[in-house]
Amino acid sequence: MDLPERLKVLVVGGGGREHALAWKIAQSPLVEKLYCAPGNPGMATVAERVDIKATDLKALADFAEANDIGLTVVGPESPLIAGIVDEFESRGLRIFGPCKAAAALEGSKAFTKDLLRENNIPTAAYETFSEYGPASSFVKDHFSFSVEPVVVKADGEAAGKGVYICQEAAEADEALRAVMVDRVFGESGNKAVVEEFLTGQEATIMGLVDGGTLATLIPVQDYKRVFDNDEGPNTGSMGCYAPVPVVTEDVRDFVAEKIMVPTMAALKRKGIVFKGMLYAGVILTDSGPKLLEYNVRFGDPETQVVLPLMESDLVETMLAVVEGRLDEIEIRWYNKKAVCVVIASGGYPGDYETGMPIDGLPDAESAGAIVFHAGTKTDNGKIVTGGGRVLGVTALGSDYREAIAKAYVAADRIHFDKMHMRRDIGRRLL
Ligand code: AMP
Ligand code: GLY
Repeated sequence: MDLPERLKVLVVGGGGREHALAWKIAQSPLVEKLYCAPGNPGMATVAERVDIKATDLKALADFAEANDIGLTVVGPESPLIAGIVDEFESRGLRIFGPCKAAAALEGSKAFTKDLLRENNIPTAAYETFSEYGPASSFVKDHFSFSVEPVVVKADGEAAGKGVYICQEAAEADEALRAVMVDRVFGESGNKAVVEEFLTGQEATIMGLVDGGTLATLIPVQDYKRVFDNDEGPNTGSMGCYAPVPVVTEDVRDFVAEKIMVPTMAALKRKGIVFKGMLYAGVILTDSGPKLLEYNVRFGDPETQVVLPLMESDLVETMLAVVEGRLDEIEIRWYNKKAVCVVIASGGYPGDYETGMPIDGLPDAESAGAIVFHAGTKTDNGKIVTGGGRVLGVTALGSDYREAIAKAYVAADRIHFDKMHMRRDIGRRLL
């Protein structure tokens, strides 16, 4: 493929991750024009919004064809799992992301666990079930001789909600029933995985993959629980920071060489080539790093700290991925720390109201932060809340203390009714 001088780029999605992608892509001198579908009000400052849903693969490909889009970048997992890359490539359109077969690394936990086990890649021990009865007997047996918790997971997509950590048999049984009998995640509960419970610090290691070469990005640690001190239920994430001191160079190399590279090699032996972003969620156990999950896309909000730290041109880097020449590129980083504080709607991850007017956005930016929109919309020209995670406030500093202070000074200038944020993002680093 010959590269045009400058190209039109389309970002698919409309959350905080996509705002960060669009924010970074818009800085590239390679970009002639940037579109987002469907985007959000924050993204509208850098990209033209197109009213097409992220899951409407055909309409997206039609738009890309009609508008001479030179590169499409997919944010969320759903279109990838549904095969958006196959659809675009069959029409000769350039797109960043894995094909449908490779996206099964996120689309099916059973597929991934089997692949890991067959190839001796470090992960929690597990069993897969396609019927509730045997799964239920298995957890009863487990708790008859062990006090260790088990982790019950729906096989397929569950918007980050299909994971249950169960301390006792009744709890595990209830989780299996919800997933496999009541089908609270629909077809994603056709199978369930029951896993050994692991302990340790968790980290995200994202890597760009061009079918051969892997280039890992700066590691990130996120905060999944809704309240300070890791209390309350899991959320999509309440904030994160990068880099991560516990993820030393050795840990990162181990994850790359013993987990990510062997996974891609195993896929290749099945005739599946992975291209795009491979997100490894790992846990650092006493017996070494183990894989908790793969995602096949940029993390949210991990992207909101990684891209502000990236000095290199993202478009140039993504084109190298798509064209299989990542080995020619060296990704450069700023020598800084980044912190992102998520501002959520009160009640999230449970029920919450939307439509609350948001004040102070320009003041937060003038305090030196970047405010990424995650769940916002416009109402009569005013920006109002539109989701659980509403904003991600990212700040950089020469050390963690500075980055954290800047992020909170900026976040405190924002106001909407019932807003909630954690006050301890990054505190463990001080
Ligand atoms: P997953 O979507 O598979 O990453 O799971 C979501 C979260 O559940 C992880 O970030 C962990 O905090 C927790 N988790 C998942 N699997 C395990 C496991 N085997 N042991 C301990 N915690 C786990
Ligand atoms: N931050 C977790 C995820 O992107 O899945």
